[in-house]
Amino acid sequence: MRTQVGIVGAGPAGLLLSHLLHLEGIESVVLEARSRQYCEERVRAGVLEQGTVDLLIESGLGERLRREGLIHHGIWLNFGGRRHRIHLTELSGGKSITVYAQHEIIIDLNHARLDAGGQILFEVDELTIHDFAGPSPKIRFRSKGEGQELACDFIAGCDGFHGVCRASVPDGVLTVYDRTYPFAWLGILAEAPPSSEELVYSYHERGFALFSMRTPEITRLYLQCHPEEDIANWPDDRIWEELDARHATDDGWKPTRGPILQKGITPMRSFVVEPMQFGRLFLAGDSAHIVPPTGAKGLNLAASDVRVLARALADFYASGRKTLLEEYSRTCLRRVWKVQRFSWWMTSMLHRFDDDNGFDQRRQIAELDYVTSSLAASTGLAENYVGLPME
Ligand code: FAD
Ligand code: PHB
Repeated sequence: MRTQVGIVGAGPAGLLLSHLLHLEGIESVVLEARSRQYCEERVRAGVLEQGTVDLLIESGLGERLRREGLIHHGIWLNFGGRRHRIHLTELSGGKSITVYAQHEIIIDLNHARLDAGGQILFEVDELTIHDFAGPSPKIRFRSKGEGQELACDFIAGCDGFHGVCRASVPDGVLTVYDRTYPFAWLGILAEAPPSSEELVYSYHERGFALFSMRTPEITRLYLQCHPEEDIANWPDDRIWEELDARHATDDGWKPTRGPILQKGITPMRSFVVEPMQFGRLFLAGDSAHIVPPTGAKGLNLAASDVRVLARALADFYASGRKTLLEEYSRTCLRRVWKVQRFSWWMTSMLHRFDDDNGFDQRRQIAELDYVTSSLAASTGLAENYVGLPME
């Protein structure tokens, strides 16, 4: 088998890259370890920046997103029993965020690629990448029990944090910058109409809690928990009581309860590798960087990486110039680090750390008070939350 760009991973990064390349007349093959159904049902991100929405619409993926996506013009920060609204749209010159589940984007992308005759091979295993330091990279894998080789001009490593691409780069080439946090998020999906039209980020002495949603019928909720927490210790009643306690406000607002459809624990990590490229291997999305979810940025960063990569590859195939490909890592990393900073800042401001003392807690409250009362500070939050410019 041969193609121009071999893409490892059919998450948002891999599928969107394949779609953008197709629009430029560039062929690709996507290789995915899991089944199509698993990918289309995996519950993950939900908040899209303005620039991600614009990119999806401009590239012809906006039909269902426009119909079903929930446009939000603000978010709430809740502390000391009071909710304070950050008016994202007023503070960002007219931008907004859209709530549309990541797995819906995956469904839309799979349709778009397969309808256009694109190749996505699901349930491949034993995938390894070869010869990417030189001009003729190869990807070897097994599909339906048979060994295969895909020859290509470039490999896009879109295989997430636990993938094989980053790990295949020779020792000493990549530098890792990371931080793990002493907590995780326990997330639930509940069959309950959202009791607030906008997201609520709550700072509380018992720990952080987040109120989000997926549709007018489904609420998505998160609780800060211990990183080694066993989900078995969290029967439904305990989850609801803890959510009520942490989101409590003087005006009596609380999440509406309903049957819990899904529960899971997500670790929290900040992670970047530099550079995001080696030879003809380009890393994009979670394979190159992870952010803690407090800023709602992971999926959006994956989209901005592949936008840069698709443009660089299009320029290469049109003109033979390698300049944009050589600049890929530097271009992406400038934005990646700003998003890392924002995600770390939101996480540090809103979570309880075990070794915090009274000083740290008062400093966090002062920061929340400042951010919600100063035009300058709330403008900074809004500008980052709706998304910094793509390039
Ligand atoms: P992935 O989505 O991880 O896709 C990688 C793909 O590669 C997977 O399908 C995997 O099966 C496949 N793969 C891995 N190894 C191999 C292999 N060896 N061979 C073949 N295929 C392989 N981000 C936001 O922007 N907003 C949010 O609100 C948000 N909330 C989140 C909430 C939770 C609970 C979690 C877990 C994440 C959240 N994120 C959020 C982050 C976001 O989901 C990720 O950043 C995003 O999925 C990254 O996309 P990706 O394509 O780079 O990687
Ligand atoms: C979500 O809806 O899953 C979500 C929303 C905001 C975040 C993280 C996750 O910061």
